[in-house]
Amino acid sequence: MTLAQQQRIQVVAHRGASQDAPEHTLAAYKKAIEDGADALECDVRLTADGHLVCVHDRRINRTSNGRGAVSTLDLSELTALDFGSWKGLDERPEWTGSAADTSVLTLERLLELVTDAGRRVELAIETKHPTRWAGQVEERLLLLLKRFGLDAPAPDEPSRVRVMSFSARSLSRVQEASPTLPTVYLLQFVSPRHREGRLPKGVHIAAPSIRIVRNHPAYVAKLARAGHQIHVWTVDEPEDVDLCASLGVDAIITNRPAAVLRRLGRT
Ligand code: G3P
Ligand code: CA
Repeated sequence: MTLAQQQRIQVVAHRGASQDAPEHTLAAYKKAIEDGADALECDVRLTADGHLVCVHDRRINRTSNGRGAVSTLDLSELTALDFGSWKGLDERPEWTGSAADTSVLTLERLLELVTDAGRRVELAIETKHPTRWAGQVEERLLLLLKRFGLDAPAPDEPSRVRVMSFSARSLSRVQEASPTLPTVYLLQFVSPRHREGRLPKGVHIAAPSIRIVRNHPAYVAKLARAGHQIHVWTVDEPEDVDLCASLGVDAIITNRPAAVLRRLGRT
């Protein structure tokens, strides 16, 4: 994995262009697409009435004007809330969006945005708390992807969607149901189980944190030598972008897609 071997580093907007706009809202994802991001990252959780929504935290307290756990609220209750004001977007003079741009975002609406983007935009979907839901998150996710024709890429075409998780069990559920959908194993620590560069069975993409990349470059090289793509999260500092570029990683996941694209000389 060298710079010369590598074609182009994919820039993935983490929770959308979430430095500029409220994370996981249409506003953040529209901005990321405008900025030129190659792909969008989102976390998905199940509501009490079984809808997949894009929310990072277990509770909605930090990112909305409501309170409580996503899993205890119906979609209609979440839809009545404001997921934008905490970021002060609506107070900015340049803001011209509507309430829909800063309300809770369903995965279904995000898939519509991606498929209507007018250019190829990929989606990296992270399953949150899959163990608690014993397969329901993956089941709903795959049903939804199937409706959009995104659950099984054509053999000669790279997939537009990949599923990420810190949970090997969650990824194996996805592989069992949809064997050709790429899966991404998120790594927060260099655990003894993965020290030799082996990932859970069937996983081809390793997603180490930037801290792992900074402190354990030999481990990252081992993962790459084992044939895994390397997607690094969350890379916001210019020197970390340079480090990732020098190592020839395959994707950079960032809250600042516009700044990373500039740093990589793409805009
Ligand atoms: O893209 C991977 C990264 O999002 C994992 O951490 O906590 O931001 O979901 P977190
Ligand atoms: Ca995530």
